[in-house]
Amino acid sequence: MEKVGIGLVGYGTVGSGVGRLLHESADEIRLATGKEVTLRTVCELSPQRRALAPPGVRTTADFADLVNDPEIDVVIELIGGIEPARTIQLAALTAGKAVVTANKQLLSQHGAELLQTAEDHGTFLRFEASAVGAVPVIKVLRESLAAAQITGVMGIVNGTTNYILSAMAQSGAEYAPTLARAQELGYAEADPTEDVSGKDAAAKMAILASIAFHSRVTLADVEHEGIAAVTDVDVAHGRQLGLVPKLLGVAKLIDGRVNVRVYPCFVPGEHPLAGVSGAYNAVFLESETFDSIMLFGPGAGGTPTASAVIGDVISIVNTAPGGYIGNCTCYKALDFYPGADVVSRFYLRVQVADEPGVLAAIAGVFGQEGVSIHSMQQTGAEDSAQLVLVLHPVREAAFFGALSRIAALPAVRSHPSVIRIEGQDDR
Ligand SMILES: NC(=O)c1ccc[n+]([C@@H]2O[C@H](COP(=O)([O-])OP(=O)(O)OC[C@H]3O[C@@H](n4cnc5c(N)ncnc54)[C@H](OP(=O)(O)O)[C@@H]3O)[C@@H](O)[C@H]2O)c1
Repeated sequence: MEKVGIGLVGYGTVGSGVGRLLHESADEIRLATGKEVTLRTVCELSPQRRALAPPGVRTTADFADLVNDPEIDVVIELIGGIEPARTIQLAALTAGKAVVTANKQLLSQHGAELLQTAEDHGTFLRFEASAVGAVPVIKVLRESLAAAQITGVMGIVNGTTNYILSAMAQSGAEYAPTLARAQELGYAEADPTEDVSGKDAAAKMAILASIAFHSRVTLADVEHEGIAAVTDVDVAHGRQLGLVPKLLGVAKLIDGRVNVRVYPCFVPGEHPLAGVSGAYNAVFLESETFDSIMLFGPGAGGTPTASAVIGDVISIVNTAPGGYIGNCTCYKALDFYPGADVVSRFYLRVQVADEPGVLAAIAGVFGQEGVSIHSMQQTGAEDSAQLVLVLHPVREAAFFGALSRIAALPAVRSHPSVIRIEGQDDR
């Protein structure tokens, strides 16, 4: 039986899961490929982790040992970060080896270069696990839905923020203690910045949007806002309105142009994404061809992510050079649609002096800027009142123009809280 040699760089959380699954699922992999896929060498910096490599597998701390080994056909890069991961992938591809990775930061910033290198050397680069861990979104978009015109991708693509927002919605707690609890339980890193700032989600959305719209989107093209400004007060008001807080990646194809952003938003309780709680991920795909499809599952974790990595190895082994599953799918070069022109729905909470004329002043500003109010609630406490407004869909530039005028009104006592509402289609 033909042999396929694997070289694995990085034997950490995901890498050790790959090592274990390659061994435990050897029969299944053989049946799926008709080939003997064996882990030949593990390249790992940490001597302790290197010692965990399965018996009979060679170990090294120098990736050149993999790149120069003619019996290694596929290099799996699982160290993360930009360098030396980029150098390792380029060296492996240039040597004609296929590469599998879960590295979202690298793919979202250097994807075009890496895919072109794979193409130039007649080999493959696969990266299913770089977006939404175990959930096979990239394969579904590239293969199963290849004939569908995708018009939107909405994703809960970061488990940490989904855990925090779900816990806030369930307990009514504030953001800071909920983050601290998530850190205690291992759902958030000691330094949670990449996750809570929305940057991790932005990298994944760049990858997904590139595949969905066949046009290159990089991390720098994705505006992102994090969840630190989401308050328990807004989450409680959202609940009264039947809305659930989520950090969503939202990629839209509007008039043939692409807009990709990440922001905290409310979704209606009945929307499929509203029920995705805890550390789970989900991607909601929209198309005129099939209306909508949602893919749901664990977005992280050593073994789930490793299973997606092995799926890519199987895809490579089963795709002969020149076969139909190529590398880069970005055969269009679509323009970007400015965020200011996107039409969105907004929730707005503002603390105002409880005095005559305030409501009229706010409504007047909105009226002048062409923003129409869908609903409004007022609750009072002594001399101040809290207004919670839901607005009809509006061009974002008009909304933010009105907002800055409202924030400057003398009767407005606090910086207004603004959260977009997604998944409610009344346009
Ligand atoms: N963990 C998840 O749930 C998950 C989910 C989806 C995607 N991913 C992606 O999967 C990749 C791996 O993540 P992970 O969580 O497995 O990371 P990890 O646990 O930190 O493992 C990375 C391993 O690579 C080693 N390493 C670093 N530089 C190296 C080099 N130059 N040569 C050889 N080994 C090197 C590290 O050793 P030292 O510790 O000694 O530096 C560490 O043992 C990342 O791209 C990540 O974004 C992870």
